[in-house]
Amino acid sequence: MQFFLDTGNVEEIRQALDWGILDGVTTNPTLIAKTGRPFLEVAKEILKLVDGPVSLETVSPDADGMVKEGKMLAELGDNVVVKIPMTPEGMKAVARLESEGIPTNVTLIFSPSQALIAAKVGASYVSPFVGRVDDVSNDGMKLIRDIKTIFDNYNITETEIIVASARHPMHVVEAALIGADICTMPFDVMKKLFQHPLTDRGIELFLKDWEKVPGKPF
Ligand code: G3P
Repeated sequence: MQFFLDTGNVEEIRQALDWGILDGVTTNPTLIAKTGRPFLEVAKEILKLVDGPVSLETVSPDADGMVKEGKMLAELGDNVVVKIPMTPEGMKAVARLESEGIPTNVTLIFSPSQALIAAKVGASYVSPFVGRVDDVSNDGMKLIRDIKTIFDNYNITETEIIVASARHPMHVVEAALIGADICTMPFDVMKKLFQHPLTDRGIELFLKDWEKVPGKPF
């Protein structure tokens, strides 16, 4: 499974690249606003750092506006993926952008039918939001299981599933168990994937015992 960072923070991206586990980046207007920096400055910096797909979101409500914005975004780099909200206008924009070779990521997916429609119009990615489904007392990971089953039933391979709105390491692990293509996560969740108290305790004990070893070469 590919790991994407869901962030507009370039320092977080640098750190994840340094760890060697970063496959791509997703952003949204909220994440860009959090940086307090001009949109184009942030987007260009991310695109310079990351070779994998970088999702940048459109904000127009209508298909013409989305296509116009999508084309502007696509000019920023070969790895730009245009993020489009799941609306009827959005799906018109997806079909038009994809027909021109511009990859799209359909965002704000909360039901299997929405994912099926996005795949039908040719989206490269769908982004179901598991955390926000959990927030309203539903089962976010069931949404992923259902979408995966439907895509497998019809051999849909052109549209990849990005598990989005991941809030903790178990969302990531469950996404991998289900066989989702990608999980996009906040930096804090990515950091937690490394952690286990028994690893820390084990290192502590080994270092303590190392002190007792005679003739240490290092
Ligand atoms: O990728 C979508 C994500 O940014 C939404 O996350 O935590 O705001 O639900 P969250």
